[in-house]
Amino acid sequence: MRVHSPLPVLIPQITTVTNNSAAFKALMLQCKARVQAALDQWLPAAERKPETLHEAMRYSALAGGKYVRPLLVYSTGQALGVSPTALDGPACAIELIHSYSLVHDDLPAMDDDDLRRGKPTCHKAFDEATAILTGDALQTLAFHILTTDPSISVPATQRLRMIETLSSASGSLGMAGGQAIDLEADGKGNSMSLAALEYMHAQKTGALICASVRLGALSHADVDEATLAHLAQYAANIGLAFQIRDDILDIEASTDTLGKSQGADIARNKPTYPALLGMDGAKQKAQQLHEAALENLATLGSEGDPLRWISEYIVQRPN
Ligand code: IPE
Ligand code: IPE
Ligand code: MG
Ligand code: MG
Ligand code: MG
Repeated sequence: MRVHSPLPVLIPQITTVTNNSAAFKALMLQCKARVQAALDQWLPAAERKPETLHEAMRYSALAGGKYVRPLLVYSTGQALGVSPTALDGPACAIELIHSYSLVHDDLPAMDDDDLRRGKPTCHKAFDEATAILTGDALQTLAFHILTTDPSISVPATQRLRMIETLSSASGSLGMAGGQAIDLEADGKGNSMSLAALEYMHAQKTGALICASVRLGALSHADVDEATLAHLAQYAANIGLAFQIRDDILDIEASTDTLGKSQGADIARNKPTYPALLGMDGAKQKAQQLHEAALENLATLGSEGDPLRWISEYIVQRPN
């Protein structure tokens, strides 16, 4: 039996914090510590059979990413008054799907990358077959959590909406579909249309960002449709901005800062926003999306500030 330590507490009164930047850094760190502790409790121990698979799952999910998707779950839920405890399960579920998508994204048959989050990619640290199974097992653990977590405090029908949200965002009409389009587009450089590029980015990255926000909102038993709709628009805008920033960083940041190989897109001649719009055009587009995202939050008071800060962070982040 594993000993479960209490999870770190999130800032209880976000609205009393006045320095946005310090408050945001603190919130990010707290969310990261909290979701890592919760993931540690859900992931089978590395000593448990099959040890290599469990070790690889823990290696990939606890590797130390930015945990932006859990941050979105916590910030959306808390803006609507949901307790952090009820948000731990959805935060873990979305991060597990994201981590699985990265393990597979890095495989030789996909982007063929050696470095992820400052460490060897899963298939380099273990082997390809283990990386494939790691992705499979992280994905199914996400749905196990959403179906069984006793702390998710909504009626069963709403829990089903949460499962539907995560499954459609992950599948062929969401992340996996976007990844398929991305693979077909390898080598196409700037010959893809802007509309096709936007669709690809919205699917491969936007879908899981949208699911993060929606899972946070659906964690409130009485969330209304108008709120869900405004938040969906916010999430679509920051989701596209997130991948545009990723494309920009692939050119402008260093491998050290990124924790993944700089120049990976150019090496594979991938269609990206800088390839189509130029660097200035890509940055302008990201900024416009950030401004639109802020407008989508107009109905939220200061309880929505963390969501505003996340939008700003997404278009300025250094890695
Ligand atoms: C990287 O995602 C892949 C994309 C969807 C652009 P993140 O930038 O969120 O990666 P981590 O989780 O912080 O490592
Ligand atoms: C990854 O896009 C999107 C998903 C994993 C779904 P990228 O291939 O650009 O991500 P990085 O740059 O390798 O993190
Ligand atoms: Mg990729
Ligand atoms: Mg990649
Ligand atoms: Mg990238």
